[in-house]
Amino acid sequence: MTNNLKRTHYAGKLGSDQVGQKVTVAGWVDVRRDLGGLIFVDLRDSSGKIQLAADPNRNKEVHDSFSGLRSEFVIIAEGTITKRPEGSANSSAVTGQLEIYPDRVEILNTARPLPFQLDEAAKVDESLRLKYRYLDLRRPEMQRSLMARHRISQSIRGFLDGQGFIEVETPILTKATPEGARDFLVPCRLTPGMVYALPQSPQLFKQTLMISGIDRYYQIARCFRDEDLRADRQPEFTQVDIEISFTDEEQVMHVTEGALKAAFAAVGIEVNPPFARMTYAAAMAHYGNDKPDTRFGLEIKDLTAVAKACEFKVFRSAAESGGQLKGICMPGAAAGTSRKQLDLWQDFAKASGARGLAWIAFGAEGIRSSGVHQHLKEEELSQIKELAEAKNGDLLLLVADTPKQTANVLGRLRLKLGEELGLMDDTKHNLLWLTDFPAFEYDETDKRMVAVNHPFTSPRMEDVHLLDSAPEQCLARAYDIIYNGVEIGGGSIRIHSRALQEKAFSVIGLTMESARDKFGFLLDALESGAPPHGGLALGLDRLVMLLTQGKSIRDVIAFPKTQSGGCLMTGAPSAAADEQLAELGITYKRAEKEKVH
Ligand code: AMO
Repeated sequence: MTNNLKRTHYAGKLGSDQVGQKVTVAGWVDVRRDLGGLIFVDLRDSSGKIQLAADPNRNKEVHDSFSGLRSEFVIIAEGTITKRPEGSANSSAVTGQLEIYPDRVEILNTARPLPFQLDEAAKVDESLRLKYRYLDLRRPEMQRSLMARHRISQSIRGFLDGQGFIEVETPILTKATPEGARDFLVPCRLTPGMVYALPQSPQLFKQTLMISGIDRYYQIARCFRDEDLRADRQPEFTQVDIEISFTDEEQVMHVTEGALKAAFAAVGIEVNPPFARMTYAAAMAHYGNDKPDTRFGLEIKDLTAVAKACEFKVFRSAAESGGQLKGICMPGAAAGTSRKQLDLWQDFAKASGARGLAWIAFGAEGIRSSGVHQHLKEEELSQIKELAEAKNGDLLLLVADTPKQTANVLGRLRLKLGEELGLMDDTKHNLLWLTDFPAFEYDETDKRMVAVNHPFTSPRMEDVHLLDSAPEQCLARAYDIIYNGVEIGGGSIRIHSRALQEKAFSVIGLTMESARDKFGFLLDALESGAPPHGGLALGLDRLVMLLTQGKSIRDVIAFPKTQSGGCLMTGAPSAAADEQLAELGITYKRAEKEKVH
């Protein structure tokens, strides 16, 4: 298999103006069709495809070579570009009008029978695609998604570079940075018993860089979080990480809007800053979560005022015990919604934690309900109707529970309804800033206060006095950016004084001793001339997934992990050899070791 020919052109870049020109193309055998006499081969390279044809009467040697070709053989062919005969053109590709009858062809490599046909990848199990990722990535669809990722990150880089940001790399082997997930730990041979942690984000390093006088930092940074995986999460993912000195919320948002505008433009979508804004409190009240999908209405309405005064016990007792009565009004759904459909929504609400889901249908021939309207006075019903902005013909779905549970259930139900009714319009690009997050919240599992964002986020100066008495009422100088109901980024203005940072640590129950042990370097740096600073990180994988209409984050990562954190191609994670473990001074408990083997 010698290679005497040299590629002169990319298949997908050939055009009609090159007809008559001699070219050499190289790539993979995409499809081979043997018509008895003529053999056609679609040659595929990273740019597209071109049809090659061999006629035994024209060139026997080339025809013989073509006879031996199989899918995914690697070939190089030299020949003159011709126009395909009338009627045989394939208009779906630019090069579909052209073909080459090669004068010479060389087989550069063979390929064994494929575990799956590349053009049938959509039908095969994803685990097969991940195991043979090198084949999967050859598919034009995957090539396009990696190309889009490249273009998006290049355009963000270009934008940030133009704004005076400099890229600084921060360590991968480091100390834990708390972002709320578990750390991946790396044992250390030179200091047995000690571990590095892989960074959950470059948070502490980028803050340190501000203290070092790097005025505008960015990094396309790999982050590692040992958390339960979902369709839009990976244990190892990439952030566009940004930090600015002497800044405020407005400036960070402005820069981020520019970066996002550039990213969207890279895939041909125009978005126009400034983006809409909503407070955390409004999002929870009207959408039931902190990442509202504003592409459709079905907003949650507060009916607690009626519940407080009504005779119906279920509603009243919820309101009296600090709970709420809230509902979603479905326009025009009073008549067409079946009992079966209502039962399914009820089951969904219960599975989401509700005690039940009540409904009222304001039909043309009167009111029907899940047995609630009989307990309500006429004026209470019309008050509910008014507060819910319901009209005759509308259906109202109601939940009475604690504020947290009401938001949770109706927030989830709203998304389900939006999906079922086809309201999530993919041609809309709703970018929304969420602001005024609480700085701290009580964690029921850990039974202590935790930072909602991270403990380096600055509280609003006007709320600092609440840190001792009512930290849960203290708002943070934090902001998230939401795209069509998905959080694609978040950040904050940071604490830049040691005293306030120590106070924030004490709110989340860190003793001074452990704060110094974990973050002593930061505390010292904060009293060494730290400028005010703030920033944000965009989740690049999520952003690319959404911009390419990918179904899963795995489709935009070259070598992703499975839902259980494994790499099916390399077999990672794998057992460590006994000698390696001995060198690191690690002994696994017997059961753990057996599980691995
Ligand atoms: P945060 O934790 O909000 O902020 O992360 C920023 C963005 O990263 C994305 N993201 C993920 N993407 C894929 N897989 C994951 N497991 C995953 N986790 C997060 C999300 C998220 O919005 N240091 C702060 C930023 C700052 O304050 O500047 C941070 O990491 O899109």
